[in-house]
Amino acid sequence: MTVPPAEHTTPQGGPTPPPGCPAHTTAGAGGVTRLHGAAAETDPMGLYEKLRAAHGPVAPVLLDGDVRAWLVLGYLENRDVASRSTQFSRDPRTWHGWTSGEIDPTTSPLMPMIGWRPDCVCADGEEHQRLRGAVTAGLDQFDQRGIRRHITRFAHQLIDGFCESGEVELVGQFTEHLPMLVLTHLLGMPDESGPKLVHAARDLFKGTETSLASNAYVLETLEQLVVTKRTRPGQDIASVLMSHPAGLTDEEVQHHLRLILLAGYETTANLMSNVLRMVVTDPRFRGSLAGGQMTLPEAVEQVLWDEPPLMVCPGRWAKGDTSLGGQQIKAGDMLLLGLAAGNVDQAVRPDLSTPVHHNRAHLSFSAGTHECPGQDIGRVIADTGIDILLTRLPDIALAVPESELTWRSSTWARHLTALPVSFAPRAPRAHDVPASLPAPPSPTGGLPAVPPRPVAGPLPERAPEPRGSWWVRLRRLLRRR
Ligand code: HEM
Repeated sequence: MTVPPAEHTTPQGGPTPPPGCPAHTTAGAGGVTRLHGAAAETDPMGLYEKLRAAHGPVAPVLLDGDVRAWLVLGYLENRDVASRSTQFSRDPRTWHGWTSGEIDPTTSPLMPMIGWRPDCVCADGEEHQRLRGAVTAGLDQFDQRGIRRHITRFAHQLIDGFCESGEVELVGQFTEHLPMLVLTHLLGMPDESGPKLVHAARDLFKGTETSLASNAYVLETLEQLVVTKRTRPGQDIASVLMSHPAGLTDEEVQHHLRLILLAGYETTANLMSNVLRMVVTDPRFRGSLAGGQMTLPEAVEQVLWDEPPLMVCPGRWAKGDTSLGGQQIKAGDMLLLGLAAGNVDQAVRPDLSTPVHHNRAHLSFSAGTHECPGQDIGRVIADTGIDILLTRLPDIALAVPESELTWRSSTWARHLTALPVSFAPRAPRAHDVPASLPAPPSPTGGLPAVPPRPVAGPLPERAPEPRGSWWVRLRRLLRRR
C-alpha cells in the first residue's frame, strides 16, 4: 500500500449534477458504468442496486482512468470469489492490465489499492501462509481483557479532554483518535507517537498535497520502531513480526507494520463513526440500545451489515477463464468484492428492516484465507470505546441538522467527515477517587457534595477538586493504610 487514493467530500443528499458535466457521467467507454466520480460517490448503494438490476450478481464497471473490472454484487458470489483461491488470485501481478497498457502505474491513483507489495495481502498459497502466520502470531498474543484495559485508558483520556465543554466533534476528537492510540500501543510504539500518527494517517487518507510528506512520516516512524525493537524487543506486534520463524525481511516487517496500522485504523475509525451516527440520528436505534433490546456489540454488527467500513474491496484476479454469476470472466480479469452490495443482497436479507441480532455472517471482514485477521481487535475497540463514551455522556445529541452531515467518498469507502454533538458539561474523571469513601463535608455547611465516580458513568456536574485540598490528603492517607 502506498498513499491511499484521494477522496471527495459530498453532503448527505449529494450535489445536483450540472447538465452534461463529464465528472457526473456514470457511463464510460462502451456504456459501462463508472465506479468513480461524483455520481458513484454520492449514492454508492443506489448505484449498486442499478447495476444489480441491469446485470445480476456480477457487473462490469470502470475504475479511475476507465480501468475495467467486474464488481461482484451477490452475497454468495462474493463468498465464492473470496474463498476459491485456486481460481481467484490475490496477487495483483496476475492482472492483464499491466501488459495491455490499460494503466500507467507511475500516475494511476489506483496503485495504492491494486499495486503489488511484499505483504500478505498480495500473496497466495504458501507465501501467504508464511506472511499471514507472522501477522496472526503478532495479533493473537493479546487477550481481549488486556486490550480492553488500554482502550479504556485511552477512551477516558480523550473524553476527559472535551467533557467539560458540553460539545465535541466526535469524528475529529474521538473516533479518529482512539483506534490509532490503541494500535500504536499494540505495535510497540510509545504513547506519544499516537497523536502525531493520527494527524499523518488522516492527512494521508484525505489525499491532500501534504499526503506524501505524511506517508513519509508514517514510514520513518515505523523504520525507527524496527530499529528500536532490534535492541529492545517487547510484548508487541513489531517484536513478534521480527522474531517469527517465518523469517520476514526488514522490508517485509515494515510493510506489514504499515498494513496493520493503516488497514486497522481507517476501518475501525469508520466503524465507530458509523455506529455513533446511528445513535444520534436514529431514535429507534438509540431506543433499542437504551431499552436493552439491542446490546452494543449487536449494534456494531448491525452497522457492519448495513454500512461496511470498506464498501468495495480490491481485488481478486482470475487465474483462468471461468463463469461467475452469469458473466464470462477471462484469465487475468480484475474482480472487486462488493462487500456493501453483498451484505444487502435479497438472497440473504429479503427484509432489510429486520434486525440481524447476533448474526456475524456479513462480508465486511471479507471471507476465505484473506479474511481480516484483526476483526476481533476492531470490534473490541469499537464496542469498548463507544460504551465508555455513551456511559459517560449518555445525553449526547446531534448539534446540527442531519442534512448537514458530509462524507469523504471514494470508490472503496465513505467516511463521515464530522459528527458535532452537544451534551451537559461534566467534570473530567477523577482517577484517584475510590467510590467507597464517604463524601467530604461541605465547606458551606450544607449537604455534602457527591464524590466523583471513579469509572464510567455520567459524572456529577461539579468542578474537579483542587489537588492539594485537605480532602485529597485525607484520601491518600486512608489509602496508604
Ligand atoms: C472494523 C474494522 C475492520 C474492518 C472492517 C476490516 C476489514 C478488512 C477487509 C475487508 C480485509 C480484506 C480481506 C480480503 O482481501 O479479502 C482486511 C484485511 C486485513 N485486515 Fe482488517 N479490518 C478491520 C480491522 C482490522 C484491524 C484492527 C487490524 C489489525 C490490528 C486489521 C488487519 C488486517 C490485515 C493484516 C489484513 C490482511 C489479511 C490477509 O491478506 O491475509 N484489520 N480487513
